[in-house]
Amino acid sequence: MAKETFYTAVDIGSNKVCSIVSRVGTEGELKILGTGIVPSLGMLKGRIENIGEVKTAIKASLEEAQRYIGRGVISGVYVGASGSHISCLNTKDVLDNPNDVEDVNSRDLERLIQSSFPEVESSQEVLHIIPIGYEVDGLSAVRNPAGLHAKQVQVESHVVLGDAPALKNTVKAVEANKVSVKSLVLESLASAEATLTGDEREMGAVLVDIGGGTIDLVIYRQGNPWYSAVIPVGGNQLTRDLAVAMRVPYYLADEIKVKWAQAMPELVRPDEEVVVPSFQGQPRRIVKRRSLCEPLQERLVEMFKLILLRVRQAGLRQLPTGGLVITGGCADLPGIRELALKTLGGPVRVAYPMGIAGLPTQLQKASASTAVGLLLWGIKHQGEKRTYRNGDRTLKAQKTRGWSFRRGHKEEQKVAAEKR
Ligand SMILES: Nc1ncnc2c1ncn2[C@@H]1O[C@H](COP(=O)(O)OP(=O)(O)OP(=O)(O)O)[C@@H](O)[C@H]1O
Ligand SMILES: [Mg+2]
Repeated sequence: MAKETFYTAVDIGSNKVCSIVSRVGTEGELKILGTGIVPSLGMLKGRIENIGEVKTAIKASLEEAQRYIGRGVISGVYVGASGSHISCLNTKDVLDNPNDVEDVNSRDLERLIQSSFPEVESSQEVLHIIPIGYEVDGLSAVRNPAGLHAKQVQVESHVVLGDAPALKNTVKAVEANKVSVKSLVLESLASAEATLTGDEREMGAVLVDIGGGTIDLVIYRQGNPWYSAVIPVGGNQLTRDLAVAMRVPYYLADEIKVKWAQAMPELVRPDEEVVVPSFQGQPRRIVKRRSLCEPLQERLVEMFKLILLRVRQAGLRQLPTGGLVITGGCADLPGIRELALKTLGGPVRVAYPMGIAGLPTQLQKASASTAVGLLLWGIKHQGEKRTYRNGDRTLKAQKTRGWSFRRGHKEEQKVAAEKR
């Protein structure tokens, strides 16, 4: 009988730390055993700025998640990685079979993918190398060339890079809690795992997880991630704007935002009024709801323009056919879909975690997409050697049997430079 396997995810967000402990049963069913969501401290725009506070928040979150299952279940965890230091490139590498010796097998392919390991500066770390397409003797879009006889196989890979010290700090903050990090996973890829449909991936779609401090963005094309980026702005900026506009403290602005904000002020009745509660001896005030929504709309439009800029950097003129999929805490802002539609064109969808039966209510939220996706990613990629951490630079291109490796053309590597 197959052994039960436990999976744990830790999403260290700018606003909350969310840990989930789960188990994959003997029939392959996923069961959530415990969830711990606690306020996050010490994070700024997806990057650790106070490691002591982050360690404490992770500890509290893991303890809450383990409350009903006891300690000792968690061995390795899948942890989200974000921050504006994240960059990406797409590489092309070639496997030649000049002497026409043998069929290509899965080991050759694995080595070919690993040969996509780019030359990186010592301050950078490779987070992911994801094969996104093969070309076999000039025939493109081959899904799996294993077993084929060929003279040449080319792989295109999506490579995600991050700042090595920033990623090491994330690992350090988690491992201070006596658990080991199995893999760091780009947060946008985790969120995509929990929210994108197969059709959206195939047609091409832009997934944005708009959280408190960052917009984690990934563009899928022909079923695979093609471009990824982190934009260092999120819902906390909306709160700051509101705090300034309404002359109220930050905590109150956030409360007002979650209660009354509407991304499309024109959908609010012109005479609708809301109460700004009293604070620090200031009397309560009554204001027009529209007046508090207007500055938020301006900022959101600015955010959508930043998203469009990234779409263009990826070489697209407009949204792909699968459109824009919005998740993360800000996806719950009323009117966000309509505003995105108006600013970027369509289609636009607000997405919540899916793909897990019996998901607890507290995880059926757009803000839980990353954490749920980390579990799904972990299950899908378990045992893969291709997830890297702590600067694993040992995987270099090697000769394998009769096949030999060749690096792709350098000018084809930068996604941003690619125009289609
Ligand atoms: N109903 C709502 N309306 C408007 N904004 C909301 C709503 N619910 C949550 N938010 C905002 O979502 C943001 C938090 O989202 P989320 O929990 O996804 O962030 P995070 O994962 O902690 O941060 P990040 O991923 O950016 O590091 C906050 O700015 C919060 O105010
Ligand atoms: Mg987040």
